[in-house]
Amino acid sequence: MKVLVTGARGQLGQDLCDQLHTRGAELVTPDRQQMDFLRPESIADTIQAASPDWVVNCAAYTRVDNAEAEPEAAFCINRDAARLVAQAASAVNAGMLHISTDFVFSGAHDQPYEETDATGPLSVYGRSKQEGELAVQEACPGSIIVRTSWLYGARGRNFVKTVLRLARERDELRIVSDQTGSPTWTRDLAAALWQLMQRRAAGVFHYSNGGQASWYEFACAIVEEARDLGFALKPGRITPIATREYPTPATRPAYSVLSREKIQSLLDQPIPDWRQSLRLMLEELQQCPDC
Ligand SMILES: NC(=O)c1ccc[n+]([C@@H]2O[C@H](COP(=O)([O-])OP(=O)(O)OC[C@H]3O[C@@H](n4cnc5c(N)ncnc54)[C@H](OP(=O)(O)O)[C@@H]3O)[C@@H](O)[C@H]2O)c1
Repeated sequence: MKVLVTGARGQLGQDLCDQLHTRGAELVTPDRQQMDFLRPESIADTIQAASPDWVVNCAAYTRVDNAEAEPEAAFCINRDAARLVAQAASAVNAGMLHISTDFVFSGAHDQPYEETDATGPLSVYGRSKQEGELAVQEACPGSIIVRTSWLYGARGRNFVKTVLRLARERDELRIVSDQTGSPTWTRDLAAALWQLMQRRAAGVFHYSNGGQASWYEFACAIVEEARDLGFALKPGRITPIATREYPTPATRPAYSVLSREKIQSLLDQPIPDWRQSLRLMLEELQQCPDC
């Protein structure tokens, strides 16, 4: 099976490529020279030339705060390029798997969001991803769209690595405690994506690790687990703060836990709890000083 992965050098892309490689898939991983989402003409040509069985779209404009000042780039990459990728996948009869986000929701719920719940993004990034979902569905009705949340992996920039860096440098970390979601290890997500591809699923699915946490609880767990594994951190404290004490250009949903019921029924194994996966990721990070 030949799989073209966009964004293969991003944090999810790298773990997905490892997963696909282990499963024996032939990988096509165009870099920005070959396929730049800001140069639309490069998209169809690259997909047509590769003629893959699957296209997995992990590339995205992911700088949530910067997107407020750069809406054109965010929409170009997250909506318009996603549409072109789906059209090109359709044209070569490839399966299409597209990654989306919990930020398509407003956060007004207090129960996990189902796939059928109304969206209501609060930010440019969230709107660009929501419109990207619609564009992909229109261009390729049999596509799989997976919304996920609070991603982290050993490779790439993410909250876990930021907290570890700050905990090495500072005596106090001030972390938002009134936003709740589900942290998700990119390795677990990659394994779930592979299974969806195998089952030829179609439609929208939610995937995150099990359980939920605030950013504050997540930060406390990162520091506790890292200390337990012997990471050299300062003996500092973590202080919970309100979102209004840490203003950011983009508004984030206060609650963005995703219901995992639909996807769980298609997976071989129970979805791992977020804290268990965090521990495994930290163990991986320990073995990889360059990550
Ligand atoms: N991070 C999260 O917490 C989170 C949460 C929910 C959903 N998601 C979604 O999950 C997916 C993967 O996210 P991630 O965290 O792995 O993202 P990431 O680490 O920021 O990687 C994004 C990838 O997109 C590529 N990209 C950006 N602009 C591009 C352009 N103009 N042309 C071609 N490629 C471009 C980047 O290429 P380079 O390597 O060349 O820079 C990079 O490989 C995205 O769809 C994101 O919206 C992420």
